[in-house]
Amino acid sequence: MSKVKIAPSLLAADFGNLQRDVELVNQSEADWHHIDIMDGVFVPNISYGMPVVKSIQQHATKPLDVHLMIVDPNRYIKAFADLGATVLSVHYEACNHLHRSLQAIKAEGMKAGVAINPHTNISLLEDTIKEIDLVCLMSVNPGFGGQSFIENTYEKVRSLKELINNKGSKTLIEIDGGVTSKNAKALVEAGADVLVAGSFVFKNENPTQTIQELKEIAG
Ligand code: DX5
Ligand code: ZN
Repeated sequence: MSKVKIAPSLLAADFGNLQRDVELVNQSEADWHHIDIMDGVFVPNISYGMPVVKSIQQHATKPLDVHLMIVDPNRYIKAFADLGATVLSVHYEACNHLHRSLQAIKAEGMKAGVAINPHTNISLLEDTIKEIDLVCLMSVNPGFGGQSFIENTYEKVRSLKELINNKGSKTLIEIDGGVTSKNAKALVEAGADVLVAGSFVFKNENPTQTIQELKEIAG
């Protein structure tokens, strides 16, 4: 059985058939449901909010991996715990007191994730890495699905893996943005543990088969 997790991003789902697409993920070889929350302030786009997450949660049978692309995420930690999030990721760039945010997420019984933008250096996580359950490495600038993968990500995955190993941490590395069957293998070889894929899965005519393909490539 593969160790690498696949997390289809529902941002690329057909919102008119959301239940159908959530169930498609349930019945596939995917591991998590990736849920992107955008506020139109931290990123130049608005995705969907609590009522939609509630509907997703009612149909989902796999862990909810929630990625908050919002300013001042501390305001909503409890709300997402109540909505059934398993992993809650806040952006490094949106937190003045990251350590406190991580504690607050864990206090609500969730895994604490930190997402970092393409311009944010890995070394900035040195002092918190042992507190972080998952780093969501953005391989595109957050805000939109369907963008091209930034090649510098491979180097960042390697630096992050080295930091995690040096500190003896158990942090998972998640890659988010532009993931396809072309870069999945190299990402896993560089140290990735979780691959998020939106467009590559849902814009394909057979999403279930595409998830299976990613799972096989990731190994
Ligand atoms: C981008 C989001 C991603 C997005 C990925 O801001 O965080 O999760 O849905 O979509 P693709 O796989 O299409 O790049
Ligand atoms: Zn995301």
